[in-house]
Amino acid sequence: MLLSGRGSNFQAIVEAQLPIDIVAVISNRPQAAGLAYARERGLTAVAFDHTQHPDRAAFDVLLADEIERHRPDLVVLAGYMRILSPAFIARFEGRLLNIHPSLLPMFPGLKTHERALEEGVKIHGCTVHFVTAQLDHGPIVVQAAVPVHADDTPATLAARVLTQEHLIYPQAIRWFAEGRLVNMHGRVNLKGDLTSQSVLSTGT
Ligand code: GRF
Repeated sequence: MLLSGRGSNFQAIVEAQLPIDIVAVISNRPQAAGLAYARERGLTAVAFDHTQHPDRAAFDVLLADEIERHRPDLVVLAGYMRILSPAFIARFEGRLLNIHPSLLPMFPGLKTHERALEEGVKIHGCTVHFVTAQLDHGPIVVQAAVPVHADDTPATLAARVLTQEHLIYPQAIRWFAEGRLVNMHGRVNLKGDLTSQSVLSTGT
C-alpha cells in the first residue's frame, strides 16, 4: 500500500476486511496520517521520504526495492501523490492499481473536481485502474458515477465522489485477490460477471 496523505481509501480497504494481508504501508511523507493509522492497526508502516532523495529515478529504485522486500502480489496506490518513473511502473505492471477521482479518460491529472465543475459536466466519478506508463490511462477495472449538482463546490463534489471511492477500491482489490480480473488487450473484464464493473450512484 503506497500513500502520501490522509489515507481514507487505505482505511476503507482495511475496514472492508478483505481476504488479503496488507504486508506493508509505505509513504513518501513521514507525517502522512495513513502511516499513523497503519501503526495503530499493527501494520508494517514505512516512511520513505522523497525529500531526502532529490533524484526521482533513484528514489523510485529504492522504493521499488523496499516494496519487493515485502513480496506483495499487488501494489495499491492509495493517494500516492507522486508521478512514478517508467522503470518503476514496468517493474510492477499488471500488479499496480490506482484510484483516480474522475471518470477516466476524462480529467486525468490534478484538480479533477474543479475541472469537472468548470466544464459543466453533469456526471462525475472515480476510476480504479491498472497503472501503465501513460499517466491516468491504464486499463479500467471499475468506475462509479455520481451526479453533479448545480450548487456543488469542488469540496461537496469531492466528498460525493470519495464516498464511492471507498466502495469501489476495496471491491477492485477483492476481485484481484480472487483472481477474477482478466485483462484482454487493455480491457479488464470480470470473470463470470458482465455487469458489476460500474456503479451509478444517485447519492447526495
Ligand atoms: C483520492 O481522492 C484519490 O482518488 C486520489 O487521491 C485521494 C486520496 O485520498 N488518488 P485519501 O488519502 O485516500 O484519503
